[in-house]
Amino acid sequence: MDANVDAKFYADYLERHEKKSLLRLITCGSVDDGKSTLIGRLLYDTKILFEDQLAALKRDSTKYGNIGDDIDFSLLVDGLDAEREQGITIDVAYRFFATANRKFIVADTPGHIQYTRNMATGASTADLAIILIDARKGMLTQTRRHSFIASLLGIRHVVLAVNKIDLVDYSELAFERIVADYRSFADTLGFETLQPIPLSARIGDQVIEPSPRLLWFKGPTLIDHLESVTVEHDREASPFRMPVQWVNRPNLDFRGFSGTVASGIVRLGDCVIVPTSGKKSTVSRIVTFDGDVGKAVAGQAVTLTLADEIDISRGDILADNRARPEVADQFAAHIIWMADEPLMPGRTYLFKIGTKTVLGSISEIKYQINVDSFEHVAAKRIELNEIAVVNLTFREPIAFDPYAAIHEMGAFIVIDRLSHLTVGAGMIDFALRRAHNIHWQTLDLTKKQRSEALSQQPVALWFTGLSGAGKSTIANLVEKRLFALGKFTYLLDGDNVRHGLNRDLGFTETDRVENIRRVAETAKLFVDAGLIVLCSFISPFSSERQMAREALEPGEFVEVFVDVPLHVAEGRDPKGLYKKARAGQIANFTGIDSPYEVPSRPEIHLRAEIEQPEAMAEEIIRYLRENGYLGHDAPN
Ligand code: ADX
Repeated sequence: MDANVDAKFYADYLERHEKKSLLRLITCGSVDDGKSTLIGRLLYDTKILFEDQLAALKRDSTKYGNIGDDIDFSLLVDGLDAEREQGITIDVAYRFFATANRKFIVADTPGHIQYTRNMATGASTADLAIILIDARKGMLTQTRRHSFIASLLGIRHVVLAVNKIDLVDYSELAFERIVADYRSFADTLGFETLQPIPLSARIGDQVIEPSPRLLWFKGPTLIDHLESVTVEHDREASPFRMPVQWVNRPNLDFRGFSGTVASGIVRLGDCVIVPTSGKKSTVSRIVTFDGDVGKAVAGQAVTLTLADEIDISRGDILADNRARPEVADQFAAHIIWMADEPLMPGRTYLFKIGTKTVLGSISEIKYQINVDSFEHVAAKRIELNEIAVVNLTFREPIAFDPYAAIHEMGAFIVIDRLSHLTVGAGMIDFALRRAHNIHWQTLDLTKKQRSEALSQQPVALWFTGLSGAGKSTIANLVEKRLFALGKFTYLLDGDNVRHGLNRDLGFTETDRVENIRRVAETAKLFVDAGLIVLCSFISPFSSERQMAREALEPGEFVEVFVDVPLHVAEGRDPKGLYKKARAGQIANFTGIDSPYEVPSRPEIHLRAEIEQPEAMAEEIIRYLRENGYLGHDAPN
């Protein structure tokens, strides 16, 4: 008897608790604004509140018998897995607290360097932002930046917490001045609610209890406001979308698609489409952790099975057939840069959007946004913490919705290909239509036919190394030998290409990336023509050499590292450029004040400080012959 009542009590309690609404929030502030103190106070003071409440419950419950202490709080942190799955865990700790009326998840982000990155990560799922201002300092650039990012990421509710009010003697005037400043700035940011609150996180004034020292303030305490503010959750009102996390195939009779519903509702019998392939089917089962259900809503983790066998893999989107997402490979987007290395237009990065990861690049920086004035500023590159509007080009089309319509379908992160670090985050604004009417023209003559007619295997020989290493000298010798063998070749050389095709480019990192991008495209055309193309460029960055490699088919790119120590190249100084660079007359000179990233696995590694050019040229010819590039008729 007692045990049954117990069970019922637990069930009721948990149900009540489960039904409490959830508010996700983020705190934003500069290092000394008191962010951690405030979070600490919220966690600690509400815990005491919560414990009081539990104690009361326990007292009540003694009527029914004994209550154990092990209530399952894990129910309270539902939903966090979704973020973990997205793989954007960057130093953000999610802290949980609750009051009698609401559950809260606060994204706790370390307040030091790289703060913007962590903030953007925390903010992408938050309903409300607490913007902290030190009452003594007033608004700072950081305040503007954080508010702007919060607004960009779709946060519509803001608490302006004017902290350390005790240190300005609880001055109403100081408070009002800051509030007026902030309001005039935040006017255009589209926040639905903006609640200013004077408080002292350290002393506890106006956090949980109204402060007797702030009697002039007629507004709520922080916790009252957090408990009562209405943040509508309209994710269920949007059309159904589910990024497929994995294809679940435990045996031949079951093939399910697992993931978290990103938006909308899915019901049995609904017609769903895979937008990138246009394939459709109807939902035959919706399986959850608790068994089969008739429908599932945004935020739920489910496995769907379909009536037909259609091709679906990880990263695909299942969507409502009547309200389909768009499919595109070029976009206008907002981007927040988060790496010490600046954003390079043209460089290949990984873009992760939902469960899909694609290769792509930032094809153009439209403008940078000045967060103080919201002015659009022309920019060639984007540095740490800067915000810009850019064009993106992906290597393959993806299904998406604009971020403004469905956050989960339009948010992406940018990942560096070599370090695998997250270097940026962004939001898709809309698809660019310009590529739509340009189709790849299929030509009747193929690369294979052309190269067979020339009796050779087309290839790009990519010479990389410091200026003065001997790249052009060796490439020149190789080309002459190939010519003598009756092979068809062309030599692209840095100095020459920079007189024509790339005349507009200099030696900044950005220009060098673009230099190599164009050369790689050109090399690809020559290879398509069936030629052996020799490319002689310093090409100092691994990323771009990798890009050139990937522009070609396997086996069509042979990296030749012409390796000399810097002091040898500098000692030779054939064009007197090192001397000028040392004298400060040339900026960004490779090896002096611009880096050279050594190839990690070149096909051919030449020790150019000991070998003679002729011997090295011979080594390359041997490589080509042994690997079948020269056809069968190449005499020794
Ligand atoms: S790359 O870095 O973009 O690959 P590229 O091979 O096209 O360089 O051009 C390098 C040549 O430009 C060098 O051989 C040298 O003659 C000349 N040059 C002029 N300024 C620089 C510079 N700042 N750094 C390197 N090379 C320079």
